[in-house]
Amino acid sequence: MITGKFPNLRLRRTRKYNWSRRLIQENNLSCNDLVYPIFLIEGKNKKQPVKSMPGVYKYTVDQLGVVINNIIKHKIPMVALFPSTPNNKKDKFGKEALNENNLVCRAIRFIKKRFKNNIGVMSDVALDPYTTHGHDGILKKNYVTNDETIEILIKQSLLQAQMGCDVIAPSDMMDGRVGKIRKFLDKNKYHDVQILSYAAKYASNFYGPFRDAVGSKKSLKSDKKNYQMDFSNSHEALREVALDIKEGADMVMIKPGLPYLDIIQKIKENFKIPVLAYQVSGEYSLIKSGIKNKLINENAIIESLICFKRAGASAIVSYFALDVAKKIKF
Ligand code: PBG
Repeated sequence: MITGKFPNLRLRRTRKYNWSRRLIQENNLSCNDLVYPIFLIEGKNKKQPVKSMPGVYKYTVDQLGVVINNIIKHKIPMVALFPSTPNNKKDKFGKEALNENNLVCRAIRFIKKRFKNNIGVMSDVALDPYTTHGHDGILKKNYVTNDETIEILIKQSLLQAQMGCDVIAPSDMMDGRVGKIRKFLDKNKYHDVQILSYAAKYASNFYGPFRDAVGSKKSLKSDKKNYQMDFSNSHEALREVALDIKEGADMVMIKPGLPYLDIIQKIKENFKIPVLAYQVSGEYSLIKSGIKNKLINENAIIESLICFKRAGASAIVSYFALDVAKKIKF
């Protein structure tokens, strides 16, 4: 592959000038590669800072007009909605997930009514925003039951589709849920609603600030290791993705992001399917505090996002999405 040697071969030649570096650049980042996560709160006319994530806010549904306008203006193709459910609406079974007037349902209706198909709306399917114990499914003897949980998840998926959600994103890691959700959506004539499966979601220590933001941190007892993946494993991620594709996933998500670039790359190499990556809350807060403390330069943000592209991600869910889109503009 190498066709010469030093001193006639000098790789620094093409790095000498900015125009030349631009010319040989292998990957770049566009607004089209970004998904912006939005936290929702109950109430009216509120924009509340998330303490654990400086620069990130929670919005009441009536504020979404301004927020989404801005996102569309900066060419971001899709938003991901995350509700911060008040404790009095949580129970053991996560019943609020099936309430057509819950926060997420109201937000989907609001956005789709006002902005039609000028923006994609993605929403998680899992019970953790709604359960008092903070787990993604039904808890029995400290174990999250699989098949029983799926029976609720398929209803949650259908409800979100009925509200107008474009992309259903099961983030619960139950076995077999993608197939059951696809079947249930199709049976109810929602053939065109996409499924973005969180196929490889790890039991990670990087979700702390998010759990704080949605209020599941204090309530979560133990951990999610009996359903989310062990961070020591990568072949298992390939099996997860293979199964989800068979069951009908249109796209797959890898989560967290930066520490898992090897997984993104392996999956992209093995399956020719759109791979999305989630630069999670802990990654956001780490980079943010590094910048604040002047330990790193703020270009580290764009660097981190281009690294996802280099690894093979089609798009990245990132709390930096809006700031970055404002900067790159194409
Ligand atoms: C839960 C969910 C989590 C995140 C997104 N959806 C946390 C968890 O699994 O406990 C984390 C995202 C982030 O940290 O930014 N289904």
